[in-house]
Amino acid sequence: MERIIIFDTTLRDGEQAAGGTLNIQEKLEIARQLEKLGVDVIEAGFPISSPGDFEAVSLIAKEVRASSICALTHANPDGIDRAWEAVKGAEQPRIHVFLSASDIHLVYQLKKSRDEVLQSARDMVARAKKYVDDVEFSPMDASRAEPEYIHRIVEAVIDAGATTVNIPDTVGYAIPDEFGELIAGIFQRVPNAGRAIISVHCHDDLGLAVANSLESVKRGARQVECTINGIGERAGNASLEEIVMAIKTRSDFFDLTTNIDTTQIYKTSRLVSEMTGFAVQPNKAIVGANAFRHESGIHQDGIIKMSKTYEIMDPRTVGIPSSKLVLGKLSGRHAFRERLAELGYGLSEEDFSRAFTAFKELADKKKKVTDKDIESLVAEEQRTTSEMYHLDRLQVSCGDRGIPTAAVRLIAPDGQVLADAALGTGPVDAIYQAINRLVGVPNVLTEFSVKSVTEGIDAIGEVLIIIESDGVTYTGRGADTDIIVASAKAYINALNRLLAAKRAAG
Ligand code: KIV
Ligand code: ZN
Repeated sequence: MERIIIFDTTLRDGEQAAGGTLNIQEKLEIARQLEKLGVDVIEAGFPISSPGDFEAVSLIAKEVRASSICALTHANPDGIDRAWEAVKGAEQPRIHVFLSASDIHLVYQLKKSRDEVLQSARDMVARAKKYVDDVEFSPMDASRAEPEYIHRIVEAVIDAGATTVNIPDTVGYAIPDEFGELIAGIFQRVPNAGRAIISVHCHDDLGLAVANSLESVKRGARQVECTINGIGERAGNASLEEIVMAIKTRSDFFDLTTNIDTTQIYKTSRLVSEMTGFAVQPNKAIVGANAFRHESGIHQDGIIKMSKTYEIMDPRTVGIPSSKLVLGKLSGRHAFRERLAELGYGLSEEDFSRAFTAFKELADKKKKVTDKDIESLVAEEQRTTSEMYHLDRLQVSCGDRGIPTAAVRLIAPDGQVLADAALGTGPVDAIYQAINRLVGVPNVLTEFSVKSVTEGIDAIGEVLIIIESDGVTYTGRGADTDIIVASAKAYINALNRLLAAKRAAG
């Protein structure tokens, strides 16, 4: 079977999603997991866009060896030079140059003629080629450009040395049949098309990103650009897990394969959701909480008799743990370690010890500790290891008569202990006011939600918040059996992200 190259852009286009800012350590952790997942190419960032992005791409290029590491750049000399500086330490570096191709972009945004754009595309690919053999070019907004002009660009950039030409549906406008025709047309009308890999990059504005990507591979595209959980600019990008599982589950139809270790999909999805703060909708294909749940009696009856009656994929193929074993306060280190391994976590000894302490504390409060609790507590531990400000103590008084009051103690980045108290309209507001007095970073809280990780009165509560500062949004998460504590942790998590982003931006 022929193989489809999986190009993951979670760390670049995925991070462009509003509120999806990741810090450098978080990016590295996701990149390591993408490598484990078997992604062929990791688009690690856009180095000229900020010093933080440059640093993240350089670090990932040095640390991740099995996947190609790609840096995105505009079609201009400085961007290309900076992209090379960032990826040059990689085992398999790639530079990805993009330039608009539709008349609507050329006339209103670039104010350049088609011939000028064609010339720049050619020149900039040639410039990137001086640094590295693996050069990708994308004619942005290709799905709204004139196909004949796309053919001219594809031919020119392949002549200039592009090894991959990516056809983006930048605004998610394409319809599968029409987009498939565009791809087929390239093979029919571009004489040198066979000398490069033809790739696709689809956005989900009409909910067609995966359908457009799959239609393209049927028509000869051999690289697909996608993100974990489909996150990305606006409505997002094509979702990696949906494309990979469609190709695998319907190999009878596609007769294609990928390098992806599908058993790592669930874990990667959880990690990206935790780090970005973007929850996965329950009915999301492949990785949603309900994707393998059967509620109706007739379906449950069928599943018990023969799982294939209503299940086209075995949940274990995507790494959803099969064990229903629950741990409790008598479970020891060994049982906890085994459970973590089954859930796909390979923690260092130090991280394991911290997670085990947190598990014991939880088991004291909660009779049964489930897989979802463990995932939540490991995520909480991971969040707190990279933080600048750390919540040390919290005390709140509230009720229907008194004035909500919070006293907060934080450990500052330099180890100093800071304490203050404040009043608020409710307990959460009082906590946030007290934290604001200590941290002093102006921001506006735009979203706040609480959900329980499992059923039951003793469940862990997970708080997700979004704050805004200088027009940029930052998400924060916190988990605890006490939702007031979880709210404080979520706010500190969001502030830590905000501060890290400001520091990285210089
Ligand atoms: O959507 C798009 O066109 C892009 C390009 C940079 C490939 O993200
Ligand atoms: Zn895109």
